[in-house]
Amino acid sequence: IASVEEQLYRPNFHFTPKIGWMNDPNGMFYLNGKYHLFYQHYPDDNIWGPMHWGHAISTDLIKWEHLPIALYPDELGYIFSGSAVVDYENTSGLAKNGEIPIVAMYTYHDPKKGDEGKIDAQTQAIAYSLDEGKSWTKYDGNPVIENPGIRDYRDPKVTWDEERQQWAMILAADSEMMIYTSKNLIDWTLTDRFGKDVGSHDGVWECPDLFPMTIEGTDEVKWVMLGSISGGAPNGGNGTQYFIGDFDGEKFTLDDSFKTALAEKHDFWIDFGKDNYAGVTWSNVPEEDGRKIFIGWMVDGHYANQVPTTTWRSSQSIPRTLRLISENGVPMLRSEPVDEVRNFIDKGLEEGTVSIKEGEEKILGGEDIDYSKARIAYTLPSIDEISYTFKLSNEKGEELLFGYNSDDKQFFVDRRKSGIVDFHDEFAEKISVAPRLSEKSVHDAEILLDKTSIELFFDGGSTPITEIFFPTTPYDQLSVISENGELILEDLKIDQLKFD
Ligand code: FRU
Repeated sequence: IASVEEQLYRPNFHFTPKIGWMNDPNGMFYLNGKYHLFYQHYPDDNIWGPMHWGHAISTDLIKWEHLPIALYPDELGYIFSGSAVVDYENTSGLAKNGEIPIVAMYTYHDPKKGDEGKIDAQTQAIAYSLDEGKSWTKYDGNPVIENPGIRDYRDPKVTWDEERQQWAMILAADSEMMIYTSKNLIDWTLTDRFGKDVGSHDGVWECPDLFPMTIEGTDEVKWVMLGSISGGAPNGGNGTQYFIGDFDGEKFTLDDSFKTALAEKHDFWIDFGKDNYAGVTWSNVPEEDGRKIFIGWMVDGHYANQVPTTTWRSSQSIPRTLRLISENGVPMLRSEPVDEVRNFIDKGLEEGTVSIKEGEEKILGGEDIDYSKARIAYTLPSIDEISYTFKLSNEKGEELLFGYNSDDKQFFVDRRKSGIVDFHDEFAEKISVAPRLSEKSVHDAEILLDKTSIELFFDGGSTPITEIFFPTTPYDQLSVISENGELILEDLKIDQLKFD
């Protein structure tokens, strides 16, 4: 059974733990050519349990090497989510012999207090590595921040604030954010509470992030705040909303035009599918690279414990480059797969303009394409008028449908007949998403397919959608159906990806 599962469901290019349970990505940093990824991990079972930090490294963000578990639970509690930074100047004083400390900040969750219903089960702590992340020592003065009487008080994300020469840290506290600053990563001062009256509050706030970015094509710097929420996402379940504003070294204030747009419609989300949660960004990506790289947990928490794999459970999204753009004067985020994915294109399978008559179904790409590692790209002069459906299918009649519906003017992904769907009642669903940029004249799409996931990036990544699925035998055919008029897909490209 294990090897069948490996064959069928172990992703080709998305990170999974070798064995056991995984949830949020944690502590990502870059140092000396290596991207480090840690993650919420329970190695002893395939459901959520006492949390550890698993660890992996990569030179290209696509192929990962598993490393030993970095942090084990101890007498202060489970190791919940958090972040890590390279402390180049040894501001923490944790290096005694000229090493460069890497400092991880995480939440302790005391399971005993938690079970007893005590409000103060969660505290903030640090651990450090003096050997580029290979081995970790917990700080002996932990916790560095005691619980102030807040039940959900967790997931510290640290950023270096270059302008103020200080560390800024954001954590989620019930249904708002708390911002702290520090000179040494050990002594923290609370400087702001944000969010009580903005954004969605249909769940607990978790896994925030806060970092500066320049609006593309300008030299205007804004601060981006990410915040995951355990319910009330655009398509139900978990989601990650974001806020854009300014940070003065103490307080975060919303950008005026963003604030107005947010008040009009609460729809600033990192991803509009069901399966992207708790995502945050890498620390210390070199300035000459300049990217803000994001990764999210690629499953909805509501059914994560039930997805039909046994050796391991769940995977991470493709790492994504975030871009801050100004759309009609409103700053907003886009996300695209990191460019490194393109280095794995083996051969292009179909290229050019493809037209499909009304009512016609056209098979694309031929026979011998492995759709468990493929990339599809195309552009459309206009999407308003034409409904189209891509169909990925196998000989068992299982199918994953995705496309655009001109009646309600929304993209959709329909996994109701995609394979195994009955493990949870929120799984067999069709989701719909309105394009963020409705006034655009040319629409482009980039789509990544792995064994159990589809990630769709429409309009330069302004409308990203992530969904997972579990066919009982691999999909081996892709077709496209035009529902109401002649569909013209321009620059269609189906790329076979290769990883070995
Ligand atoms: C989000 C989360 C975090 C917490 C961790 C525990 O999925 O609930 O808030 O730190 O998972 O595993």
